[in-house]
Amino acid sequence: MTTPAIEAAGLVKRYGDVTAVSGIDLVVPARQIYALLGPNGAGKTTTINMLTTLTLPTDGSARVVGYDIVREARRVREHIGVTFQDIVLDQDLTGRRVLDVHGQLYRLNKDERRRRIVDLVDLVQLNDAIDRPVKTYSGGMKRRLELARGLLTNPDVLFLDEPTQGLDPQNRVGIWQYIRELNRARGLTLLLTTHYMEEAEELAHKVGIIDHGKMAADGAVGDLIAGMGADVIRIKGRGDCQQLVRHLDGRTYVERVQCDVQDGAVTIHVDNGNRRLAEIVNAASSNGLNIDDISVARPGLGDVFLHYTGHALRD
Ligand SMILES: Nc1ncnc2c1ncn2[C@@H]1O[C@H](COP(=O)(O)OP(=O)(O)OP(=O)(O)O)[C@@H](O)[C@H]1O
Ligand SMILES: [Mg+2]
Repeated sequence: MTTPAIEAAGLVKRYGDVTAVSGIDLVVPARQIYALLGPNGAGKTTTINMLTTLTLPTDGSARVVGYDIVREARRVREHIGVTFQDIVLDQDLTGRRVLDVHGQLYRLNKDERRRRIVDLVDLVQLNDAIDRPVKTYSGGMKRRLELARGLLTNPDVLFLDEPTQGLDPQNRVGIWQYIRELNRARGLTLLLTTHYMEEAEELAHKVGIIDHGKMAADGAVGDLIAGMGADVIRIKGRGDCQQLVRHLDGRTYVERVQCDVQDGAVTIHVDNGNRRLAEIVNAASSNGLNIDDISVARPGLGDVFLHYTGHALRD
């Protein structure tokens, strides 16, 4: 068996009374894309910071490309690239200079730097802008420059903390393309964090659902969704949704039913959505719920999130 690119066991990080990460286990096989999906404050950045040796864990252990993140931190750093959640670029430098300075930091010689910069600027399609100061770049261009910088040292594993945060849909799709390309064509292992469901669904071979510092579930996206059953009927309504939940719970055609008291949304997993729709509508009105909106769909990662954490993931 080959060594996983990343493996963590019982990782914990406490800051005084705050437990940011509370016992995370994860395994990322080489050449896979793994997405840590969770809401604000779930512990995603803290987990990345420990795996990239920027923060010491309070407890637990992890290996990246076989090296221990505490005892062999220098080795780990030689094999990884990182991009941070907040853009950290010197705005007055040109894109090319940003990359060159980074290469110098890692003691790449001049020829090597020039060669790699040409290659990466091509990959992230910044050819026209690379000799302009970073302050003239759009948000998407800055993200692409950071991606190129993270790749400059030829890492085996790339960590991306919220790679598309704050980008418009078009730029987001662009970044997804580069991420896929890196994984497919260059065999890179990627661990990214996101609070966008579509991002995890689009990109990841495996997804870890993280909430309150804990891994609520993890697995292949398809498997997690398949575990949710056939169809899902969603109702938005006014009234007490608990009563409807009690009414439906235990019926043979209802695989699972849940209501989010915060926004009065009811999620009902059924064997056949279209066939059960009329019955559900009747049940709602006879249980004191006025329907504002109802839909039938295949379940998605959002339903997985709701199931394992008990609440919806709101962007
Ligand atoms: N240096 C620190 N000192 C104290 N508390 C911290 C520190 N860093 C993080 N925390 C706390 O740990 C928890 C997890 O934070 P973290 O930044 O890892 O979450 P996140 O999942 O990355 O959130 P976001 O989606 O907002 O980026 C939060 O409650 C945060 O306030
Ligand atoms: Mg974060």
